[in-house]
Amino acid sequence: MRLKGKTALITGAARGIGLAFAEAYIREGATVALADIDAEAVRASASRIGAHPVVMDVARQESIDAGVEEAIRLMGGIDILVNNAALFDLAPIVEITRASYDKLFAINVGGTLFVMQAVARHMIATGRRGKIVNMASQAGRRGEALVGVYCATKAAVISLTQSAGLNLIAHGINVNAIAPGVVDGEHWDGVDAKFAAYENKPRGQKKAEVGAAVPFGRMGRAEDLVGMAIFLATPEAEYIVAQTYNVDGGNWMS
Ligand SMILES: NC(=O)c1ccc[n+]([C@@H]2O[C@H](COP(=O)([O-])OP(=O)(O)OC[C@H]3O[C@@H](n4cnc5c(N)ncnc54)[C@H](O)[C@@H]3O)[C@@H](O)[C@H]2O)c1
Repeated sequence: MRLKGKTALITGAARGIGLAFAEAYIREGATVALADIDAEAVRASASRIGAHPVVMDVARQESIDAGVEEAIRLMGGIDILVNNAALFDLAPIVEITRASYDKLFAINVGGTLFVMQAVARHMIATGRRGKIVNMASQAGRRGEALVGVYCATKAAVISLTQSAGLNLIAHGINVNAIAPGVVDGEHWDGVDAKFAAYENKPRGQKKAEVGAAVPFGRMGRAEDLVGMAIFLATPEAEYIVAQTYNVDGGNWMS
């Protein structure tokens, strides 16, 4: 019960890693609000795990403002924010569209920044020594030939985590990030399908290749990230500021 009495807002939590974090936080005694653009899925997931559903599009400011306000009303405040909502896309540099660029930056970078801003304002106003955890990626550590835009958004998340971490620690708010490697699930099924099209591979092959390349010996699972997500939200992480932690089975060292 390391999060007993705490309240947490997790974006992009209707499924996947965000949902696994929500379940873990509830097991640790927290009250949790799941925010997601997929209204039907977020309501179903919230009702299944005993969380509050919040319908929020992190790419739209009015939706962020209304969603954060709703989460505060439902839980009485927000002690922990996990900025987890993101979108993936893939294309060679000469085929990247402005629409894809705009969408990925609006969700992955703008969403992270402006949800963080709205929640930080609330934490400062209420004197909470809050915890903010951003979801980066190994994709933010190094470019990839076909993944230019997504990699750039995740590099921006690492950079924003550094700046926000340095700025908000003055208010006792810790901002840190997790950089997962390759995590099996719906998200990677979509990634695999896109690679299959561009690299002319049968479906499932890219997934098998990236899994075999992980030093640990397999792809990650959402549960592999849960320990770090809990730790960064506890008072034990109070002296950790503006860091991004790799939780990737040994893929990356920094
Ligand atoms: N799965 C991986 O291999 C992997 C690796 C590194 C980093 N990550 C990061 O971890 C996080 C979670 O990944 P996942 O695998 O669970 O992804 P996922 O695609 O399974 O889940 C993402 C969720 O975000 C929601 N979402 C999308 N756009 C939104 C918007 N505008 N507003 C609100 N919600 C929105 C989706 O509806 C979905 O429920 C992401 O930030 C992702 O970039 C994932």
